[in-house]
Amino acid sequence: MNNAQKSVTVIGLGPMGRAMVAALLDRGYAVTVWNRTASRADELVARGAVLAPSPAAAVAANEAVILSLTDYVAVYDVLGPVPAADLAGRVLVNLTSATPEEARAGARWAAERGAVQLTGGVNAPPAGVGEPDSSTYYSGPRETFDQYRALLEVLTGRADHRGEDPGLAALLYQIGVSMFWTSMLSYWQAVALARANGLTAADILPDARETADTLAQLSAFYAERIDAGVHAGDVDRLAMGRASVEHVVRTNADAGVDTALPAAVADLFRRGMEAGHGEDSFSTLVEVMSKPAA
Ligand SMILES: NC(=O)c1ccc[n+]([C@@H]2O[C@H](COP(=O)([O-])OP(=O)(O)OC[C@H]3O[C@@H](n4cnc5c(N)ncnc54)[C@H](OP(=O)(O)O)[C@@H]3O)[C@@H](O)[C@H]2O)c1
Repeated sequence: MNNAQKSVTVIGLGPMGRAMVAALLDRGYAVTVWNRTASRADELVARGAVLAPSPAAAVAANEAVILSLTDYVAVYDVLGPVPAADLAGRVLVNLTSATPEEARAGARWAAERGAVQLTGGVNAPPAGVGEPDSSTYYSGPRETFDQYRALLEVLTGRADHRGEDPGLAALLYQIGVSMFWTSMLSYWQAVALARANGLTAADILPDARETADTLAQLSAFYAERIDAGVHAGDVDRLAMGRASVEHVVRTNADAGVDTALPAAVADLFRRGMEAGHGEDSFSTLVEVMSKPAA
């Protein structure tokens, strides 16, 4: 794509899609949009985007079609009725969250219609779209990625192609998101416990930041040992962790706070103890978690 072809379609105008269209318009792209709820396009149309009357018309408008939908059910709902002949030759930059298998099936679905899918996983909230430090994992044909790199770097400053397997970007994205959801919920738990004891989120923010920094340091420390198969109980013991987690459960219960999350953590410690790992490091729970619960 050269400068004269700075033209792209965006389908899906949730917070992400809208931020992407805004970033593209800022950079001088001609943008055609389509969204199930047409009114979400109003502000963007006022800024110069063109609202297509149908998904088929949106696809017809450009070779590059960015998909920013809730899930792949929505992708097929939107693109399923588009004639295969209209999809032929299109590059579907699919930034819709999916499992790796769903992403692979999506790439096959596109190929059957003569289109190419580049799978993407955006590592940023809408506010990070268009920012130089934000990044997106991509996987799929390298040649297609290279051809559209300038466009992709408008969406997030860093476009990180990880491999040809269309499921890989989805996998890396889900690994990150898995950590994101559980970590953020652990923070909500901390805030709920603080509030139940008369403290605000702001009161505990410095301590929460320090805990997050410690997690980053510990991740680096344990990564090396886990990859070497070392779960020695020299710096911590699972039995110690189990007692500590029980205190967490009881502190939350005493404060009248929901204990679903700490109880799930306690259950994993219990399974580690039952598997005979009490004297090992709590990193041994990686092995427990690598198998489904009995
Ligand atoms: N928001 C974030 O912080 C963030 C960060 C990283 C990645 N992501 C991922 O990026 C994607 C888009 O995020 P978002 O926050 O913009 O998502 P969203 O709020 O779920 O909106 C996505 C779009 O999907 C459309 N949609 C959903 N189901 C549909 C269906 N059955 N048929 C047609 N259209 C349908 C919605 O249309 P309507 O407007 O008509 O409802 C909306 O335009 C998601 O896969 C998300 O996981 C989001």
